Amino acid sequence: MAVSKKVFVKTFGCQMNVYDSERIGEVLGRAGYRATGSIEDADMIVLNTCHIREKAAEKVYSDLGRIRQLKARRRQRGKDTLVTVAGCVAQAEGSEIVRRAPVVDLVVGPQSYHRLGDLIERIREQRRPLVETQFPPESKFARLPQRSGLRRASAFLTVQEGCDRFCTFCVVPYTRGAEASRPVADIEAEAHRLVENGARELTLLGQNVNAYCGRGPGGVSFSLAQLIRRLARIEAIERLRYTTSHPDDMRDDLIAAHGEEEKLMPHLHLPFQSGSDRILAAMNRTHGVADYLALIERLRAARPDIALSTDIIVGFPGETEADFAATLALTERVGFAQAYSFKYSPRPGTPASLSADQVAEDEKMRRLARLQGLLGRQQTSFNLASVGRSMPVLFERAGQRAGQIIGRSPYLQAVNAPGPLGHVGEILDVEIIGAGPNSLSGSILQPRRGGHDAQTRAMC
Ligand code: 5AD
Ligand code: SF4
Repeated sequence: MAVSKKVFVKTFGCQMNVYDSERIGEVLGRAGYRATGSIEDADMIVLNTCHIREKAAEKVYSDLGRIRQLKARRRQRGKDTLVTVAGCVAQAEGSEIVRRAPVVDLVVGPQSYHRLGDLIERIREQRRPLVETQFPPESKFARLPQRSGLRRASAFLTVQEGCDRFCTFCVVPYTRGAEASRPVADIEAEAHRLVENGARELTLLGQNVNAYCGRGPGGVSFSLAQLIRRLARIEAIERLRYTTSHPDDMRDDLIAAHGEEEKLMPHLHLPFQSGSDRILAAMNRTHGVADYLALIERLRAARPDIALSTDIIVGFPGETEADFAATLALTERVGFAQAYSFKYSPRPGTPASLSADQVAEDEKMRRLARLQGLLGRQQTSFNLASVGRSMPVLFERAGQRAGQIIGRSPYLQAVNAPGPLGHVGEILDVEIIGAGPNSLSGSILQPRRGGHDAQTRAMC
């Protein structure tokens, strides 16, 4: 086995890709590679890509242009560089990537990266590019090495992959395949390993995570709520979160868990995409505006202080000014702590990309700017409402300024406070003294032992 080779991994896109990049690092560790933060020094470069919008996919090709020059420079110094494209662009475009960017040695889809060690060997033997984008019958999870190395106070754990919902704008069902849930025992084992590595918060990930339906103990099916309650029994886990959810998969037991399970944080990411029933139907979203509002009401009844975030698309084909006004109205009515908003981007192979009714680019830009103005105001006022309160913060790493550490409130707000690095990994009460659009600042009140978050509820 090669020793002390270096790998540079760049991650594009969502949290699922962040998780996959960590696991890719672990697979490559087994193949003799260790991580480097310097692309110039890397014997292997992995771009873990995102295909969700055109811009994200195009960034990959501009990076590959720079990597071509870098590879040539390294070659002059007698060094080889293995260039790999992983993730959803790899899955969607396959051998087209090698045609467009011959610098690429290996294309590997999100369901095949557990085979990276073998694939590298094959490239060395065959000396030609390889494309591996099958959905292999075996689960990659069963073949991945144990979690190791990364010491993180807050860790991602993929529990579900793929999506069966086929929203007409979205490539995910094509790039990530059908919904599949990992067995409860596997998830529990991984959770224990993450806790041994210092995790106190777990965010359970899935493209449609609240559709989770995994094999539980004794062969019975577990819902996401049952999985959450089970993981909450692991004492060292103090906080649980999950993302991303579909409104129509928000089951009663999950809503109830938000009111009952103290370790489940009072934050939910629940995309609504559009505030117009006509557009929602064209998107194949299956929920209407009234359903979404009723769901928010039930969630707030279960957990009055729940903070909501969402995803919204503007300029979907056929979206009129009135449809867009309905999106603004729904945003106004719900009030979000945070949101991601996007211009519709036609994706190859999706039904909406074939519509003749595309909205002009400048109109999309105008609508996005208006929506983002409103969302920015909502986010700032949500943050300002925290000033003067105290809340438990899980500190995750050093802050940008010297002597500062940064963590997250129960509501997923970033919180900066002066404090020693020794507090990283601890949950401490912080008095919030300042708020901006993207973060809070505060001062640590007193180190608390055990760091339980139950207090949040009493404060609200
Ligand atoms: N165009 C714009 N935004 C999109 N999203 C998904 N597909 C597209 C697209 N074709 C957004 C949705 C989704 C988020 C992850 O990305 O809002 O919830
Ligand atoms: Fe894409 Fe989410 Fe719709 Fe699935 S539910 S198709 S991942 S937008």
